[in-house]
Amino acid sequence: MGNNAIAVMASGKGSNLRVILDAVAAGRCPVQVKLVISDKADAQALEIARAAGVPQVVHLCPKSYADRASFDADCAELIDAAGCQWIVLAGYMRILSSPFVRRFRGRMINIHPSILPAFSGAKAVEDALSYGVKASGCTVHLVDEVLDGGPILAQAVVPVLDGDTFESLHARIQVEEHKLYPATLARMVTSGFDIEGRRVIWRT
Ligand code: GAR
Repeated sequence: MGNNAIAVMASGKGSNLRVILDAVAAGRCPVQVKLVISDKADAQALEIARAAGVPQVVHLCPKSYADRASFDADCAELIDAAGCQWIVLAGYMRILSSPFVRRFRGRMINIHPSILPAFSGAKAVEDALSYGVKASGCTVHLVDEVLDGGPILAQAVVPVLDGDTFESLHARIQVEEHKLYPATLARMVTSGFDIEGRRVIWRT
């Protein structure tokens, strides 16, 4: 698959970024994290990236752009200038514009805290709890123009317990995210996959 340079986009505490960087450092995930972009100045993800020595760590402020498309265009230029083949969304909480999604079609992945297609959107954990499902989990998927709707690469399931709160359920889901995301990324760059309809078929 040639170039295994990746860009990570993150808005929050960056625990998924952290486990990816840890997996890279431990030799379990053969990618190079060349660039980390955040739309939030106070995102812990920025600190984590700097501490790990990521070559380019950038905060872009959405308020200084006229619209979503121009913000996304700057992100795309940074990604291309850094030579990144893959874009990894790790708790990136902005909706992406269609031109951005089209530009990186088949090369951009996301992790979502539910078993898609259940509970897409920004409140997946809250929605799963209030619906009353007895199991939830996380999904790694390709990003297309449908929110949380691209072909599914991998999923992991956790139980929902009677006493669960948002915090306890999210923490249980994140334990699985932290295994699934680096492992899926590693598999993606080493084995690769084909897409048949909506189905991702892993090459061996
Ligand atoms: C993760 O649970 C991820 O699944 C979720 O945000 C959290 C980020 O955690 N993503 C979404 O909800 C995307 N719609 P992190 O900042 O600790 O990696």
